[in-house]
Parts: sequence; C-alpha cells; structure tokens
Amino acid sequence: MGLIRKILIQDLKPGMRILDSGISWFSQPLLYSSPGLIEDAAQIKELEKAGFKAAYVDLSDFPDVAAKYPAPDEVLNAAKDSADTRRILQEADEEDSRAWIGLHDQAPEEKNSRQAEEPQTSLAMELPVARQIYKRSLSVIRDFIKAPNIKHIPSLVEDSKPFMASLLGSLTRNPAAILSLTRLCQADEYTWSHCVNVAILAMLYCNKQRYPKELATTMGLAGLFHDIGKTQIPGRILNYPGKLSPQAFQIMTHHPGIGYKIIRGVPDIPKEVVDGVYQHHERMHGTGYPNRLSGDEISETGKLLAVIDVYDALSSRRPYKEPLPQHKCLSIIYSMREKELSPYYVDRFIRCLNIYPLASAVELSNGLRGVVVKINDATPLLPVVVVTQDRHKRNMPPRVVDLSAHPSLHIDRGVGADELGVEPAELLRRFCQET
Ligand SMILES: [Fe+2]
Repeated sequence: MGLIRKILIQDLKPGMRILDSGISWFSQPLLYSSPGLIEDAAQIKELEKAGFKAAYVDLSDFPDVAAKYPAPDEVLNAAKDSADTRRILQEADEEDSRAWIGLHDQAPEEKNSRQAEEPQTSLAMELPVARQIYKRSLSVIRDFIKAPNIKHIPSLVEDSKPFMASLLGSLTRNPAAILSLTRLCQADEYTWSHCVNVAILAMLYCNKQRYPKELATTMGLAGLFHDIGKTQIPGRILNYPGKLSPQAFQIMTHHPGIGYKIIRGVPDIPKEVVDGVYQHHERMHGTGYPNRLSGDEISETGKLLAVIDVYDALSSRRPYKEPLPQHKCLSIIYSMREKELSPYYVDRFIRCLNIYPLASAVELSNGLRGVVVKINDATPLLPVVVVTQDRHKRNMPPRVVDLSAHPSLHIDRGVGADELGVEPAELLRRFCQET
C-alpha cells in the first residue's frame, strides 16, 4: 500500500496511478475512479474537460504533491496519531537495538495469556514499521545464505529470536500490515522470503489461538528454519525455474533430513523447531517424506507447518508461475484435508487468516454493514464490500467500498446474512454484472 490521497484533477501528473476509490459514482459523480496509469498530459486535459474534479492516487513517488495533501487521519487525529506512531517506532527501535547489541536476553517477562488486550493500530501506521521489521528479518537469513557455515547456525538461531519477537509484535498490533508484505516477495528470493512468510503465518496462527508468546516465538523459529536443509541443496536444483526431474526431486527430498541434522546440534533448540524442520513434508496418509510418517506419528508442529508451507507456496510468485488468488489457495489446501494435511490445522488456519469469503455478510469498524463482493489478493483482510446498512442497521442505497483504499476502515466481524435485509448471493451477482 502506498501513499494514497484524494487530489484535485489539476494536480495529476503523468506516471501517477489512479486507484479505485470504492466510492459509488452516485454519491460522488465528479470523482474519477477508473483505476490505471495516467500516461500523458493529454489524458489529464481530457479528464478536466469531462468535468472530473478529483481522484484517488498513490503519491509514493510524488513527494512534492503529497506535501500538499496531508492524510485526513493525520489532520483529524494529529496529536493522538503522532503519539501512537512515536510509541510504535520507539518500540520497534528498542527491539531492533536489542537485536544489534545483544540485549534480547534481558527482554521483560511476558504474560502467559495475551493478545486481545493489547492495543491495535491502523494499517497506515503499522505498515512502515512492519516493512522495516520484515526487511531486517529477511536480511538475517539472507546474510547466512551468502556464506552458509553450519558452525554459525547456533548464533543465527540466537540472532533470529528478537526478530521473531518484533514480527509477533507487529502481528499483534495489526496483522493486515505484515500479512500484506508476505505477498510481495520477489520470485528470485523465494526460498528465503518463503521462510520468513512461514514464520509469520505460524505466529499468526499461534496469536489467533492465544498461545503463550514464548510458544508463538518458538513456532516462528520453526517456520523460519524449516527449510534450512536447502542450504545444502545445489543451487541449480533449488532455483530450477520449473518442475523438477524425478532425479532432481529425489535430491530435493533430502532437505528435511539434512535440516534435522543441522538443527538438532544447536544447544537448547526447542523440540518444536526440530520437529518442524524434520516433518513439514510428511503427509497424513503416509505419502510424504523423508520417513513416510502418518497420522499421529507426525508431531503437531509438523502438521501445522505442512499446512502453512503448502499455503505459502501456492500463494507466492515463482519464476514459472504467478501467485494463485487467495480463494484458490484456500480451496486447494481445503481439498488436501484428511489425505495429506491435518483437517484440524487446515480448518483453524483458514479461520485464522480472517478471510471473509465472497458473499459473506460483515460489519465494518465504522458500524456500516454489507457484503464482501471482491477479495483483494494483496490485502486479503481488506476486501471490497457493498454496504447496504447504516450504523443504525437501517437499509441504505448500496455503496461500494474498497477497504484497501481506506486505511482507517476494516472488517470488525461477520454477521448473519438474515440480519442484512438483502440476499448476499444476489447482491454479489449484481455487483459482478455491473463491474
Ligand atoms: Fe521444505
């Protein structure tokens, strides 16, 4: 998500990207909302001639124009936001300092049961912090890959702990921020951004289940190191841009066993991390590898990481494939329940992603209610919603709201379709016909 502002048409410049405002043209007919790139000055003149007065654009690359348009939230809540932002950045700085100067062992004691009572922050506030934490987490594992020396594994594990704590902090404050970053990895960095993503998703799962923070951090480490055995797989196989030959696949299947041998030698390494490394390719009916374990022979960590590993692989970009849309990833892992993946973890993982499927009835954080009509792949927690009820539960003319263009809005909860006064499937059908 960039620096999104509503600006006057005369301030548009070639190269700016128009965003779908999500606002019905019935209510704002002078707002230009056709998404796409402004290619030249002639196009801007056309828009002016057509009578459009304003548009939503991403001003990330236009700081001079951005300076003219402070965000409404910044204006309205300047005092509060600046205090909150300072607090978040200060916390992140402190966590980072611990990482760099080795003070993380002195982190304060944590509560056993947690999460719900901690303050939440807006996506706009959390995103820059999350981006910084994500980048640094990736750099820890990338630096190791440049010079993979098994002797350094214990210090790598130790160095990674504070980053797991930082990621968990961001997830707790606002999961949408760091989750949106897990979808942005570069194809050529897949192997290692995949490790950071699996760590994040494992901690998201633990957070949603209200597991103790210590266990969540351990599961984050299990996710981060689950593919550490791949450091010993030849690059030509690891980075092969397509389906592996049977011989190459056979070599690839050695990575959990190699990882196990590497990780079990780390002093005080938690059992969950060892299990996750060794068993994340085992399958429920014994068709996985390396030991063809089945059912309860597979540890809980192995079962959970298997679900997350498959999900992240499906939803990531690779040199030979585009990421699959969110709903397809979810339907594929759902189809793998029982035979391959643990139904227990598949069901809970899908639920904890907080995905509101198409046609689900939802209530927004401002009290308006409506129906999800489009999933934004980059921000699955911020779909497009057709609002049909005001905050007093009175019916109103349908209005399209793209939550990804409204950083201060999010879905608060799902509601019963019968509470809405409209048939969600019919509303979705009409939306699809008209767009
Ligand atoms: Fe793996």
